Amino acid sequence: MTDDRSPDPVIVTPRDNGPYRVAGPVILQDAEGNRWDLPAGKPAFLCRCGQSGNKPFCDGTHRAAGFASVVRAPGTEAGGS
Ligand code: FES
Repeated sequence: MTDDRSPDPVIVTPRDNGPYRVAGPVILQDAEGNRWDLPAGKPAFLCRCGQSGNKPFCDGTHRAAGFASVVRAPGTEAGGS
């Protein structure tokens, strides 16, 4: 497990029924190495449902698509052992 007290950790959070929230200093690039400009100091929201018209970013379509996914880390009350 990564120590989240290390300097500038990237934190990826699968939001309930929504996108991945990616916070921290991160480079997002395509398979050819071309990079997206991400606003400094703001989290990115990456599509987890596969329905976005603006991949890899979430555009909110998950709501209309009825995307349902709630995940919890193992060992938490909701995540099992
Ligand atoms: S998670 Fe929002 S559009 Fe896919």
